[in-house]
Amino acid sequence: MTPHIVETTPIEGQKPGTSGLRKKTRVFMQPHYLENYVQAIFDGIGGVQGKVLIIGGDGRYFNDRAIQVILRMAAANGASGCIVGQGGILSTPAASHLIRKRGTDGGLILSASHNPGGPDEDFGLKYNGPNGGPANEGVTDRIFARTKDIDSYRILDAQDVDLDQIASTTLGDMQVEIVDPVTDYAALMEELFDFDALRALFAGGFRMRFDAMHAVTGPYATEILENRLGAPKGTVVNGTPLPDFGGGHPDPNPIWAKDLMDHMYAEDGPDFGAASDGDGDRNMIVGANCYVSPSDSLAVLADLAHLAPGYAKGLAGIARSMPTSEAADRVAAAKGIDCYATPTGWKFFGNLLDAGRATICGEESAGTGSDHVREKDGLWAVLLWLNILAATDKSVMQVMTDHWARYGRNYYSRHDYEAVDTAAANQLMDDLRASFGSLPGQSFGPLTVETADEFAYDDPVDGSRSSGQGIRVAFASGGRVMYRLSGTGTEGATLRVYLERLETDPDALAQDAQAALASVIAAADQIAGIRKRTGRDAPDVIT
Ligand code: G6P
Ligand code: ZN
Repeated sequence: MTPHIVETTPIEGQKPGTSGLRKKTRVFMQPHYLENYVQAIFDGIGGVQGKVLIIGGDGRYFNDRAIQVILRMAAANGASGCIVGQGGILSTPAASHLIRKRGTDGGLILSASHNPGGPDEDFGLKYNGPNGGPANEGVTDRIFARTKDIDSYRILDAQDVDLDQIASTTLGDMQVEIVDPVTDYAALMEELFDFDALRALFAGGFRMRFDAMHAVTGPYATEILENRLGAPKGTVVNGTPLPDFGGGHPDPNPIWAKDLMDHMYAEDGPDFGAASDGDGDRNMIVGANCYVSPSDSLAVLADLAHLAPGYAKGLAGIARSMPTSEAADRVAAAKGIDCYATPTGWKFFGNLLDAGRATICGEESAGTGSDHVREKDGLWAVLLWLNILAATDKSVMQVMTDHWARYGRNYYSRHDYEAVDTAAANQLMDDLRASFGSLPGQSFGPLTVETADEFAYDDPVDGSRSSGQGIRVAFASGGRVMYRLSGTGTEGATLRVYLERLETDPDALAQDAQAALASVIAAADQIAGIRKRTGRDAPDVIT
């Protein structure tokens, strides 16, 4: 088997976004598209000669074909080994764990996360480094630079590798090891959580519904919840990963996981509901009649993590993305530990976790995780919640009510305007930037602007600076609004508007979030002229 050197020319637009390269599947399926990008990754990380990589994805359409191409290219580029999840499956957190456990030189994860899958939907590919986390900006900049001057790629002429059999084979001179995608991950969860207490919880009649949304967490949740913890069969629903996620949108939020919401708000519904996304790194938590916002979930997990064996010694620090609510900051302050605000994108937590400065991290976009891996981890969040419920003997609603009574409630919501005209969205952001000088002192309804600026992050570990990370407007009486353009969308621009207000009046902690935020929502529109510029009456998605 001789490696072929195939001549190619650069392809426009292969710039990695918030989380790797995401495009329409058909874009990825164009001649040389995937190959160019894979070669650019290999070149961008200094070649893969003699290296070992973890490879796996969320099982979406084109996952298996892309893996065959990646394997042939890795072999042709001199990699010494690839470790692949059986059937091409690895959840993102499980891939992160395998990279760390096997001490590999990183890995390639095939996923477009919570975006739908299929020939007319989305596909994605990203490189994670030897620490198990998404490549930092230095690396993704080198990969992008390489996509712009690439002139050839290397690929082996070979038969497909059988991805379905757990076995070791060779491809050219490269070792290929097919491993069970669940075993190592499940063992890690057993180390972190009190499985005896969780078994007792289920044995005592606790009822749970886990919606895997036909995505990658199905096999993981079935093994852990039903097989190891004894939850009744049927606790996991939509548990078989499908290439098109059953035609659904595998994004665990009240809109896309409406079926779960309906069950949890029904009379005599389950005690606990949870869902995860396409690649298993996001989570949604919902109790009986009680949806938990991701920002609140982060605060509760950080507050009570010490109840789980893996975190019994307490937390070194907490980190959240800038647009995530400040509920976690209040917990950190009470515990006397640091709280970091980073730009959106899990990669920014990597240095804090590696340096031991943060133990638990989270984002408003339904991601929470800890230093056990270097990705956010959907099932981990679910298991930590279960551990907390078992240890406190409280319902989700009681946990939330007690949390707000102690810390106050950071009412929070995100309004998304999707597939907005890109020029109009950029103009909106530019005009906001131009008004930083004039906004302070201006009033919008009952709210007066105190500060307006654009968030830039100075990484406290490596000193790197990331600028242009979201516009912030803070009001004198408290409350803030943030504006960002999404870095994960594949169509036009997605404008995200993040809204927050702290309430400490004990009699005002049980309001509907949209009602509690009404004045902030109105000000956000007036300040940026969202409706006028986008031509939309209302957001497409409210979380
Ligand atoms: C992915 C990343 C997250 C990020 C989210 C939203 O899930 O892993 O870190 O918060 O996308 O990013 P976006 O740029 O679309 O707001
Ligand atoms: Zn995801």
